[in-house]
Amino acid sequence: MSSLTVKDIREKKGRERIVALTAYDALMARLVDEAGCDLILVGDSLGMLVLGYENTLPVTMEEMIHHAKAVRRGVRRALLVGDMPFLSYQVGKEEAIRNAGRFLKEAGCAAVKIEGGQEMADIISAVVRAGIPVLGHIGLTPQTAQSLGGFKVQGRDEEGARKILEDARVLEEAGVFALILECIPAALSGLITEQVSIPTIGIGAGPQVDGQILVLHDLLGLFEEFRPRFAKAYVQLAPQIRQALSAYTEEVRKGVFPREEHSFQIKEDVLSRIKE
Ligand code: KIV
Ligand code: NA
Repeated sequence: MSSLTVKDIREKKGRERIVALTAYDALMARLVDEAGCDLILVGDSLGMLVLGYENTLPVTMEEMIHHAKAVRRGVRRALLVGDMPFLSYQVGKEEAIRNAGRFLKEAGCAAVKIEGGQEMADIISAVVRAGIPVLGHIGLTPQTAQSLGGFKVQGRDEEGARKILEDARVLEEAGVFALILECIPAALSGLITEQVSIPTIGIGAGPQVDGQILVLHDLLGLFEEFRPRFAKAYVQLAPQIRQALSAYTEEVRKGVFPREEHSFQIKEDVLSRIKE
């Protein structure tokens, strides 16, 4: 099975919904890919989910590349996108191009994701002109959540909604191949989806979009600390994992595990000879 291209993703608009998810390691990436997911994002959400940081801000390029390489080894079909971490692209075009390029050169990604609207347009278009496809990300942008007033729905008032609509237009102009819309009202997503020619991929943005993305650990019910309303859990793995771990702990302490079927045997005569 050959892998999907940026062009394939673009051409799904108006034809077929785009299925996207995050992944952070090879094993999970393989499962996600085999399920038929079209786009896999190595999100900087790995900062919280895998590395134990409070938020995404401390995540470094080295950490992103390390995980992107692992995910690459698990993915055959999906389009692989690397998420540019905080301060890897904001400082200037040259640094943005150099860091974005690392996701392609070192980790085998097909594209990068950059957070931000109009204020990032010049940098995004410079990266695109360097030949690196960019996935945009507007609405609630976690790296700048502080300035947006925290993790809450964006674009509810007229000024906010106009800003996000304009962000979408400007980013299309800047050359992004698709746009993530995070945590905005459903009708605003619908309007943006109508007005731009590139696919929109929503998270907490309602159904009137060209595709959906979720954080894998949310979908699997693995991350219990913070669960936004839009993060639907299709299974609750954390309680199941906890149950398995406590069963193991108890069986080891009681001497119930391992049993004969988990053990290896040696012939009696070999045993008696070494005992002599
Ligand atoms: O880092 C991430 O997981 C993301 C997605 C939620 C879009 O940016
Ligand atoms: Na992210």
